[in-house]
This record gives sequence, structure tokens and C-alpha cells, in this order.
Amino acid sequence: MKITPVIQGVIARSAHPLGCQQAVRQHIATVRQHMDPVDPVSETPPLRVLVLGASSGFGLASRIALTFGEQRADTIGVSFERGPSDKGVGTAGWYNNIYFRQEAEQAGRVAKNIVGDAFSPAVREQVVQAIRDDLGGQVDLVVYSLATGVRPDPQTGEMWRSVIKTTDEAFSGPTLNLETDTLETMTVEAATDEEIIATEKVMGGEDWAEWIATLHDAGVLATGCRTVAYSYIGPAITYPLYHHGTLGRAKQHLHVTADALNHQLQALGGQAHVAVCKALVTKASAFIPAFSPYMLALFKVMKAQGTHEGCIEQMQRLFGERFFPAQGEVEVDAQRLIRMDDWELAAETQQQVVALMAQITPENFTALGDYTGYKTDFLQLNGFAHEGIDYDADVSMAELLRLTP
Ligand code: NAD
Ligand code: NA
Repeated sequence: MKITPVIQGVIARSAHPLGCQQAVRQHIATVRQHMDPVDPVSETPPLRVLVLGASSGFGLASRIALTFGEQRADTIGVSFERGPSDKGVGTAGWYNNIYFRQEAEQAGRVAKNIVGDAFSPAVREQVVQAIRDDLGGQVDLVVYSLATGVRPDPQTGEMWRSVIKTTDEAFSGPTLNLETDTLETMTVEAATDEEIIATEKVMGGEDWAEWIATLHDAGVLATGCRTVAYSYIGPAITYPLYHHGTLGRAKQHLHVTADALNHQLQALGGQAHVAVCKALVTKASAFIPAFSPYMLALFKVMKAQGTHEGCIEQMQRLFGERFFPAQGEVEVDAQRLIRMDDWELAAETQQQVVALMAQITPENFTALGDYTGYKTDFLQLNGFAHEGIDYDADVSMAELLRLTP
């Protein structure tokens, strides 16, 4: 069977396992490049880490950076992915999990994958059990990197659905259609109060706090346990769409939650942080309407300046340089946020981005913006457009079915 890319709008409907494997390996190599040649018998025990949302984007990059970086982490990764079936080969995240585990185990690390709904009590119980069985009973770090559009209300079982809208006036702007390679004008409507609340429920901090409470009650948080979740703020030019929109409201809730969790974890000598990251192409971000022209301009400018990073470079810099300072406290801003978006928001970068965005039109965006880079990133997330993979070769479904998480 040959596997070809199938894109509908901004959603990938197919994935190539071999490309996913190659991407995982390349990201591991990126992290290893940053490692000092340390003595083989390290004194520090491996960090024990739970990653919620481990199969793609920032969560996968965190897992790779922590496992193959100085922390030599043993990890449990939770994600919601689909394996091969008569419906298709399954999702990229399914294969990322498997190939990550294989590489981690080869390096002598524990890497347990739990595939299921992170909001369900059953998965929470499974995770607590896995911490006891596979990590010796406790975790030192919980990475919260879920991105989803729905969350069940634990009281009623009904679904909260997040929306990506503004919170005051409607906003019209060009947005990328990755299926047709065109920029189309799209109107982002203003959300109702119910929609704002639902988005806070899905993408805010409530579930993060519930996870920490569950783990704390089960006695599986180690002394000094830390937790981190990821946020985005962006520049003023995107505020109507993001920071002042429904997602920004949810992130505001996440930031407040970090302070509450930080307070609670002090009893254990622990800490909670939010890291504000750079805008990047992920399964989740491709979904944000009218945001793509900013990304096209940003990537073009940052690549020219030599400051562009992908998810793995961001997470390598976070965990390699910022999160575990050799001495003193973690560097944060006035809102206690770790600013990994410092290079994106640098004044000289933003000046050029604003100037470039003003010139981008549906006719010239492929030349003026970094459309090739954006599209390649999107394809590569799904295992396509990787050099050195023979996409004409047959992939054996029987072999894929033999792979287990
Ligand atoms: P992503 O789509 O690549 O990853 C989401 C992860 O969540 C996947 O592992 C997926 O399997 C998992 N997941 C989703 N629903 C689940 C469920 N019900 N149960 C278990 N697992 C589930 O997204 P991402 O872009 O890496 O986003 C992660 C975080 O980073 C989000 O908080 C996002 O807002 C933030 N962030 C993203 C960007 C960006 O530009 N992409 C920038 C800054 C911050
Ligand atoms: Na993630």
C-alpha cells in the first residue's frame, strides 16, 4: 500500500509512519547536538515525568528534550490517537508515540504510552497505576500540553466545545487553505458569553488543576514536584484573533491557574509555571482562522534573522537552559511567565513582520511569505515531505498492525 498526503482544508487525513519515525529521530538528534559530552556515569537519577499531550507538537518535543537531554527522563506519555484499522493507517501521533518509545528504550529509558481520553477517570487511574508500576511511584514533573476542541463536563457528561473567535468585534482577514494553496478571506465572528466560558473550560487551567489534584491525592507527586503548561500571547497585531479572543481568555485562565497550583505545590516544595511559546505550525495551530498570514511573515523574517525555532528547538531551549537553572530561580516576567516567545517578540523582528504583512496579498503570499516553510512543516507533522523517504514504496499494513503503543 502506498500512502499519500490527504488534506482537507487545514486537517490532514493521512499520515506516513516512516516519515514520523524519521522526524522523531531527527528531533532526538537535535537535542543530542546540544548535549555536552558528559561522563557516561551520571550521578543524577533520571527525572520522572508525566507528559499529558505527548504525541505531537510541544508535548512530544518536551518529551524528546527531557528524555535525550540532561534530565535523561523516564516518561509516561498520554495522548488521544488512532491506530491502523480498515479506516486507514491511523494518525501521526500514534506513530510518534511508538517510534519515540522504541528510541527511548534503546537509550535505556522508560517510555510508557497511554492512549486514551485524558479527561476520563479511567485514564487518570491508568496513569496513577503506571506511575506506580513504571516510574517507581512518583513523578518529578508534569507537563500539561493538551490541545483539543472538546472536554466533557465531569458533572453532567455533556461536552464543552471551544470556539476560536474574537470577544468583541468580528474580524475579517485572509487565511490559508492548505488543501487548495490559496489565501481566502475569512470572517471570525465575536463569541457569545457561553462560548467564551466553554473555551475557558476546554483550553483553560481547570483540567490541569484537576490532574494535579488527582495525582496529589494519589500520593504520586514527588517532593519538589514541578508542573508546566504552555501558552501563547503574540504581538499586538494578532491580539484581536488570539490574546483578546476566546483562546486568549482561556490562556488567561491557565495563567491564573498556574499561580494557584504554584501556591498548592509549595507544600511539597514544588512549583507550577506557564511557558509562553513561539507561534508554530502544529495540528492545533493550523486551525486558528486568519492567523496564518502572521505566521507566513514571522517565519520569513525569523529565518532571515537566524532566530527561527521549531517545537524541538523551543523545548530544547526551555529544558536545556531555562527550566532547570544551574543556580537561582527560573527567570520569569512580571506575570511569573517563562517567556520562550522572547525572540518572536523582539522589536526588530516585529517591525519587519508588520511591514511584510502589509504587503502580503492572495496573489503574492507564496513568494513574500514563507509559504513553502509553512506547508512543509504541516506535511512533515504528518510524516510527509521528509527527505530520504521513498514515498513510492509500499508500506505493509500487516507490519503496521503489529506495532503497539
Ligand atoms: P498538538 O495538537 O500538536 O498536541 C495536542 C496533544 O494533545 C496531542 O498529543 C493529542 O493527542 C493530545 N490530546 C488532545 N486531546 C486529548 C484527549 N482528550 N486526551 C488525551 N490527549 C489528548 O498541539 P500543540 O500546538 O502542541 O499544543 C499544546 C499546547 O501548546 C497548547 O496549550 C497550545 O495552546 C500551546 N501552544 C501552542 C502554540 C503553537 O503555535 N502551536 C504556541 C504556544 C503555545
Ligand atoms: Na502537545
